[in-house]
Amino acid sequence: MSVTLKLATSLDGRIATASGESRWITGPAAREEVHRLRAIHMAVLVGVDTVIADDPDLTVRLAGYVGPQPSRVVLDSRQRIPLGCRLVATADRLPTFVISTTNSNERLTDAGVTVLQVETSDGRVDPVAALKALDSAGVKAVMIEGGGQVAASFLAADLVDKIEWFRAPLILGDEGRPSVGAFALKSLAAAPRFRRLSVHEVGDDLWERYGRA
Ligand SMILES: NC(=O)c1ccc[n+]([C@@H]2O[C@H](COP(=O)([O-])OP(=O)(O)OC[C@H]3O[C@@H](n4cnc5c(N)ncnc54)[C@H](OP(=O)(O)O)[C@@H]3O)[C@@H](O)[C@H]2O)c1
Repeated sequence: MSVTLKLATSLDGRIATASGESRWITGPAAREEVHRLRAIHMAVLVGVDTVIADDPDLTVRLAGYVGPQPSRVVLDSRQRIPLGCRLVATADRLPTFVISTTNSNERLTDAGVTVLQVETSDGRVDPVAALKALDSAGVKAVMIEGGGQVAASFLAADLVDKIEWFRAPLILGDEGRPSVGAFALKSLAAAPRFRRLSVHEVGDDLWERYGRA
């Protein structure tokens, strides 16, 4: 399974204001690149708090695009995903997974959502178990699109192969939401390390690409 982490942040690494406002930190050119990245991944994964805050579609929306759409995957231990959100509303035509630690909620499955029940780690979906369940469902390449808590749990478990980092020229300050949440790092030597593969200017933003060190 190949795992890519996409981050769209301010210069100081924030993904939203304190109130959760994140649209839009990066500009249209960077967002178009994100749609291209979605098109080459079999699945796009987010945490349930991103669904609650942003109600995203997680689809490829590019002019003239007729290729496949990625599966949409939500890590949601207790099935808090709103039944009226866009992901659930379109689950009858676009593959949509909720990875949970509890039994299927009939209202989700009736709407076309596939609920994968996996083991917990610290009361939440275990990221290794989540990838295993996706692999068994035929998903071989996933792009994680946030938020910060989900990014932290995949980085802490050393599961991220590539980072696609879009950095916009604005500052949100310490009270902004972090792009990577807490992961109890014990020392600098234990920090996940990456090597930079390339840097591109996209509109006013920078796109930095990293692979495992
Ligand atoms: N700038 C951007 O591109 C961008 C992208 C995405 C999000 N955002 C912003 O980020 C904010 C949301 O980020 P967030 O960090 O608060 O939440 P998040 O990472 O989207 O979701 C966290 C939730 O996911 C569930 N979860 C299940 N398994 C997990 C695991 N192994 N590790 C971590 N979480 C797991 C947990 O809820 P349960 O315990 O109930 O399962 C947890 O509360 C929003 O304001 C959104 O607008 C910005």
